[in-house]
Amino acid sequence: MRSHQNPLKLIEILADGEFHSGEELAASFGITRAGINKYMKVLREWGLDFTSVQGKGYCLIAPIDLIKKCKIDHYYQADSRCEILPIIDSTNQYLLDKIGQLRSGDCCVAEFQSKARGRRGRRWFSPFGSNLYFSMYWQLEQGVAAAMGLSLVVGIVIADILRELSGQDIKVKWPNDLYLNDQKLAGILVELAGKTGDCAHAIIGIGVNLMMTNPDPNIVNQKWANLGKVDRNLLVARIVKNLNIKLSEFEKQGLAPFISDWNRLDNFANRPVKLLIGDNIIRGIAKGINEQGALMLEQDGKIHAHIGGEISLRGDE
Ligand code: BTN
Repeated sequence: MRSHQNPLKLIEILADGEFHSGEELAASFGITRAGINKYMKVLREWGLDFTSVQGKGYCLIAPIDLIKKCKIDHYYQADSRCEILPIIDSTNQYLLDKIGQLRSGDCCVAEFQSKARGRRGRRWFSPFGSNLYFSMYWQLEQGVAAAMGLSLVVGIVIADILRELSGQDIKVKWPNDLYLNDQKLAGILVELAGKTGDCAHAIIGIGVNLMMTNPDPNIVNQKWANLGKVDRNLLVARIVKNLNIKLSEFEKQGLAPFISDWNRLDNFANRPVKLLIGDNIIRGIAKGINEQGALMLEQDGKIHAHIGGEISLRGDE
């Protein structure tokens, strides 16, 4: 963390999106301009885009509204129990390493992740300050069987928040994606850890594309969408608040009260889809979910339930 301190201080200065001269920056750090160049290189490695103009200095391509605990708590009007981690390997891993010290609802948010992961062993592109990278711990009293339902509820909660903040028609895709205009806007990764007694521990990771530019094609290899500019501190505050409310509701009542929300938001409702299960492809018409969180698929006039970690869903029109 110590070695990140000066590049992070530099970002605080550049976050306003204005030009700052090399001399001014060097003076405020008490170092040479070559030293500033070294920090700028780190910023580039973290995915920040900036211009440098002779005689004017450095300027970020876009200003950044940095995530601050005090701003989140201002919107949440309570202690959000949300830790801000400017630089981390993965917010999910950070919470996984702390299981045993966590209460349901404890969470963290990062500006940059160096080893972010997606589902099925994929990576998640996480440049500094452009998007949202968030994780929350939740104890599942009903054990691992409740994990599928929990992740569907998370999708519903996040879709509704993003709809409200952006006014756009955001949808859910079974089991764990959010879509905008048939393109992936956000992903959810629920990781389960160390069963104690009957309960299980869930780490819910959420990545939302907001202002992403030039994603690494080795990591982002499907059609993707950005939400656009939103107040990220407000977004985090809403997520913390609404997840706490809705996951408590899910714990008491299960998935049944959420089925109508799923139907309202379902990107593929009544559309032909194909399910990829290992090497198998199953074609059918998507017919929503059941109370266990299974995908209901109409095949040859009959409805079948499909559940399982390796299922993925693509439009088939
Ligand atoms: C997916 O593959 O669609 C799931 C992506 C989940 C990414 C998020 S970003 C915050 C959290 N930390 C991680 O390492 N991954 C999740």
